[in-house]
Amino acid sequence: MKSALVTGANKSIGFEVVRQLAQKGVYVYLGSRNLENGMAAVKKLKAEGLSNVEAIQLDITDDESVKNARTEIGRKMEVLDILINNAGIYGGYPQAALDSTIDQFKIAYDTNVYGVIRVTQAFIDLLKKSPEPRIVNVSSSQGSITLHSDPSYRYYDYKGAVYLSSKSAMNMYTVVLAYELRDSNFKVNAVCPGYTKTDFNGHRGPGSVENAGMRIIKYALIDKNGPTGKFFSEENNPETGEVPW
Ligand SMILES: NC(=O)c1ccc[n+]([C@@H]2O[C@H](COP(=O)([O-])OP(=O)(O)OC[C@H]3O[C@@H](n4cnc5c(N)ncnc54)[C@H](OP(=O)(O)O)[C@@H]3O)[C@@H](O)[C@H]2O)c1
Repeated sequence: MKSALVTGANKSIGFEVVRQLAQKGVYVYLGSRNLENGMAAVKKLKAEGLSNVEAIQLDITDDESVKNARTEIGRKMEVLDILINNAGIYGGYPQAALDSTIDQFKIAYDTNVYGVIRVTQAFIDLLKKSPEPRIVNVSSSQGSITLHSDPSYRYYDYKGAVYLSSKSAMNMYTVVLAYELRDSNFKVNAVCPGYTKTDFNGHRGPGSVENAGMRIIKYALIDKNGPTGKFFSEENNPETGEVPW
């Protein structure tokens, strides 16, 4: 049975990703910074008949929490097959380049950039033991510098200096990580779930979490011929899904 860790999975897109992976027979660690919320989420999935799910306390901004999660999972599993870096925050308001504060950037980067790096580095040894390791960094097409420079891009006017730049930074981390792992069985990709109705945006997004989850697990389960070091947003490219960085 394959195993996976999903960060920020007590609700919304992360929770749905756990559900869909568990439905495919993967043993999933549901990361939640508040363990009680994580356990409540697991209870819901168990009530649906998904017994292959377990909550793990994981605050991706906290070195100690990440270290403890790594130790706990390492005690139970020798191998981790899939890491989904899903946890993310918007970073509050204002988001204007001239008005957002340095503290806003620091807080957003601590989750969206350093959090992804922290968790990836902590779990890379377990992932390296998998015959088919997969890392999906949940990004946003809005982190694409190319798309956001194009006036025909659907979200061209949705500029937000804090959130967008944090996702661009995470994207570049993804590119470098995929490059470093290019001569291995790893597949490392950034995937945008699309504008999705969740707490993240006050439920304004038109997309469903089910669709968002499908877009993400596709790259968690790709076979050895699948892509690596790429950026996918089906919302912006319904044909191949690939979008420019
Ligand atoms: N929704 C969209 O339209 C959209 C579009 C493009 C990309 N995305 C990306 O998709 C991902 C998930 O978004 P979402 O819409 O599901 O957001 P959400 O509804 O706000 O849920 C975010 C999840 O991340 C968790 N989280 C936040 N900070 C954390 C931390 N320090 N450590 C661990 N977990 C943390 C939250 O936990 P708590 O419950 O404890 O707060 C929650 O479980 C994010 O990376 C986001 O940038 C979303």
